[in-house]
Amino acid sequence: MIKIAPSILAADITDLSGEIQSVSNADYVHFDVMDGVFVPNTSFGLQALKDVRKMTDMVLDVHLMIESPSKHVESFAKEGGDIITFHLEAEEPDDIRKAIKMIQELEKKAGLSIKPDTPAKALLPYIDALDLVLVMTVEPGYGGQEFISAMLPKIAEVRSIIDERELDCELEVDGGINHITAKLCIEAGANVLVAGSDVFAAADRTTHINELRNP
Ligand code: DX5
Ligand code: ZN
Repeated sequence: MIKIAPSILAADITDLSGEIQSVSNADYVHFDVMDGVFVPNTSFGLQALKDVRKMTDMVLDVHLMIESPSKHVESFAKEGGDIITFHLEAEEPDDIRKAIKMIQELEKKAGLSIKPDTPAKALLPYIDALDLVLVMTVEPGYGGQEFISAMLPKIAEVRSIIDERELDCELEVDGGINHITAKLCIEAGANVLVAGSDVFAAADRTTHINELRNP
């Protein structure tokens, strides 16, 4: 089944609780954390996660776009994240392994994300241990960017690795997802679609989310 994860980066922050309620037929709430170092922009932090945790029982899909994520995954897992995904480019190999373990020891799901310039094969040393792989379909840092269609073969490559190894691992895509690119990503093998501006710009979000599941 295809899962939809609306990114609240595109939500109206003055009514975050109402905005989250308006997407309650989605599968996850995508929560972007940016530190202004790993990516040029800043966004939500730990306190915001605690507040969002109080607003909803939905699965919180935390996307850490920060340097040295192994120092922070524990706090984000303890403060309410259900899936904690960090970037392969932001951490050393040993610390990547430690961070995955730390997240899973807290009984949360561990995800690893790759930026557009990082090849699928960079995931090979870690993928057996992962609950989720996030293939970025834009350069991380900002909502509302155009989908990079050159990422489609990479999505297909990650899908074949997951299937060949028979892994219980979700394949998520993030950036520039709308009904057209959703279809392409699903065909390439993605099963979780993050969508920010496309979902929050829709007047009828419930219908829009259902349509994204079956584009
Ligand atoms: C970008 C973020 C995305 C962003 C997606 O760095 O990771 O989650 O919110 O926004 P859209 O769907 O507008 O491209
Ligand atoms: Zn994201």
